[in-house]
Amino acid sequence: MAETAKIIDGKAISEKLRGDIRKDVEALINDGIVPGLAVVIVGNNPASRTYVNNKKKACAQVGIHSEEYALPEETTQEQLIALVEELNGRPDIHGILVQLPLPKHIDDEAIIAAISPKKDVDAFHAENVGHIMIGDHKFLPCTPAGVMELLRESNIDVCGKECVIIGRSNIVGKPMAMLLLHQNGTVTICHSRTKNLAEVTRRADILVVAIGKAKFVTADMVKPGAVVIDVGMDRDENGKLCGDVDFASVSQVAGYITPVPGGVGPMTITMLLKNTLTAAKL
Ligand code: GUN
Repeated sequence: MAETAKIIDGKAISEKLRGDIRKDVEALINDGIVPGLAVVIVGNNPASRTYVNNKKKACAQVGIHSEEYALPEETTQEQLIALVEELNGRPDIHGILVQLPLPKHIDDEAIIAAISPKKDVDAFHAENVGHIMIGDHKFLPCTPAGVMELLRESNIDVCGKECVIIGRSNIVGKPMAMLLLHQNGTVTICHSRTKNLAEVTRRADILVVAIGKAKFVTADMVKPGAVVIDVGMDRDENGKLCGDVDFASVSQVAGYITPVPGGVGPMTITMLLKNTLTAAKL
């Protein structure tokens, strides 16, 4: 009889943490400060629209004021920077989030650089990335921070573990490696040029998958009993939401697994709320 993995319930863990955040927000409001988040979306990417709607809903749930700036696809880089600068100067806005990806004619890095590091609730600005590298951060990037909370809440100790990450993006893979390293994991980052990928992933005690390919990780790539964290948000052949991990087969081998939906996704948004609260306190 195959082993069946324990499900790490990101939705339940999120709800618990959001309850704590809500209390902190209420205390801050009693002190006369209403935490405020500006969410900027450019163009008509349907996935981005869904994410932004979820972020706004979550803000309302914990009492954070949110404002949406929905700009047309043809917005210029100069116009977007002008909006960011205006938001940088607003004392009632503590966090600024520009939803990525941006249209092709806009340079993501130029926009991220324009956001005040103090309001950079995504922790994408080079100054905040540097702080994370050193380990003296104020903000952590939302998805990797959410993964660390899932591990912590599940009593999974990272110290000395073989941690393998598939994906080397600035948003997930690279900061994820840093956070696992800070917890004394032995970290390997795999990517599209990695040779013998399955051999590397089979060494993992903790496997984090963030590549954006539906059901890419199969049972033969996973060590029995491993912790498998699925950051993917993909569509399967029938258009149904799924992750980067083939849940049906991998859950028979892994010790712990996050589902999609209901795993990492809600935690990412919860960490955004936490960062906005931190920005308002600062
Ligand atoms: N696009 C996909 N994930 C993210 C995120 O965490 N923050 C922003 N701003 N854009 C994203």
